[in-house]
Amino acid sequence: CEKKDGWSSKQRLLVVANRLPVAAVRTGEDSWQLEISAGGLVSALLGVNEFETRWIGWAGVNVPDEVGQRSLTEALAEKRCIPVFLDEEVVHQYYNGYCNNILWPLFHYLGLPQEDRLATTRSFQSQFSAYKKANQLFADVVNEHYEEGDVVWCHDYHLMFLPKYLKKYNMQMKVGWFLHTPFPSSEIHRTLPSRSKLLRSVLAADLVGFHTYDYARHFVSACTRILGLEGTPEGVEDQGKLTRVAAFPIGIDSSRFIRALELPQVKEHIRELKERFAGRKVMLGVDRLDMIKGIPQKILAFEKFLEENPVWQDKVVLLQIAVPTRTDVPEYQKLTCQVHEIVGRINGRFGTLTAVPIHHLDRSLDFHALCALYAVTDVALVTSLRDGMNLVSYEFVACQAEKKGVLILSEFAGAAQSLGAGAILVNPWNITEVAASIGYALTLPADEREKRHQHNFMHITTHTSQEWAGTFVSELNDTIVEAQLRTRQ
Ligand code: G6P
Repeated sequence: CEKKDGWSSKQRLLVVANRLPVAAVRTGEDSWQLEISAGGLVSALLGVNEFETRWIGWAGVNVPDEVGQRSLTEALAEKRCIPVFLDEEVVHQYYNGYCNNILWPLFHYLGLPQEDRLATTRSFQSQFSAYKKANQLFADVVNEHYEEGDVVWCHDYHLMFLPKYLKKYNMQMKVGWFLHTPFPSSEIHRTLPSRSKLLRSVLAADLVGFHTYDYARHFVSACTRILGLEGTPEGVEDQGKLTRVAAFPIGIDSSRFIRALELPQVKEHIRELKERFAGRKVMLGVDRLDMIKGIPQKILAFEKFLEENPVWQDKVVLLQIAVPTRTDVPEYQKLTCQVHEIVGRINGRFGTLTAVPIHHLDRSLDFHALCALYAVTDVALVTSLRDGMNLVSYEFVACQAEKKGVLILSEFAGAAQSLGAGAILVNPWNITEVAASIGYALTLPADEREKRHQHNFMHITTHTSQEWAGTFVSELNDTIVEAQLRTRQ
């Protein structure tokens, strides 16, 4: 059922996110190398077959010239992607600035940056202007490709103005917005100078989704307390217009991980890792090198555990994969130095000529290597200070059918609400408690591990990413039908 220009007759879904699921590297004046990055959102939407999906987003590169823009647009079209071009200055002020230096820390309860709070209102203002400008550029591209009946699904804190801008172009557009981070308590949100504008812009959407019920509740409270609007069981009402607000917890494509473990190269990798760490328990952390992930606190807890339990000193190893991220933002640069310093000190303190207690890697692993690592792990440490959901905890569980290892999980990760009964929940700020939990996890009897694993495994295989995406989009369609019925009544 192909129609012209490669679209099928299924309902069209335009997914708009800051980053495209493809990273572009320029190899010549008009040639590009495209690398698919299979993040959570991509795999979620791969399994949703009832829609014809197109992605709209920033390709992650600066392309100032027309030849480059045209050739990249053509190359991306083959991957069903449509680029939004942002110049370097906008990226600096919008992405590094307003998104990742202001909204990201604020939504994770780390507050507003000191410099902005003290004096530099000019820099705050210019970052906010760039944020609006970038959102407008996204809206222009969406509007250019939009056709009647399309569903537009906007993602994350980068695009909070997008629902408003899209509705300005076309009130009939079906617009959903989903936040992948926590939405903080209204008392935190109200510290943001542009608090009301952001809320009002999001409320222009037909359906607003969050990972947990708590985040949805915080958002509704912010709308009632800051904007003085009315919260209803359905969402937020403003002069008769209802914006539906609800929780849609994301999942993973668990079968992809389970299948990978059957591949010969993954089995070989597992064998090598088991040999390499024979006689030692393996603990694992996999995080982007981000302050919300609580990596320094986690490593300090591991140090405390070693200090208090000398018998374990050469019998356990912590493998910490720390994927570099947002490296142009000063806070992230400081964090990298801090983590290196702590790891070096602990390895110097507890290492021997032949082994060190912490293996710290500043890079990502390929999918198969990651699956093998999850499979040989005895204890996974997910100790984020705050986290929207945290899918590493889900991926670990998917790869543990044989080993039935233990998950130590932060109570401040969204995943604590779904995997809480199977994991050992900790307050990541309490280093003494995390250190004690490590000891507990390492000595947990097999029947208890089995019970906990079964609980979590059942959850992650039934609440998948595909189910998440399918539910959100069909609720968005239903919301619009209901709204039309209401206005006819
Ligand atoms: C979080 C955000 C995503 C973002 C990802 C990677 O998970 O919610 O929207 O894409 O981090 O961050 P980056 O800044 O590299 O896109």
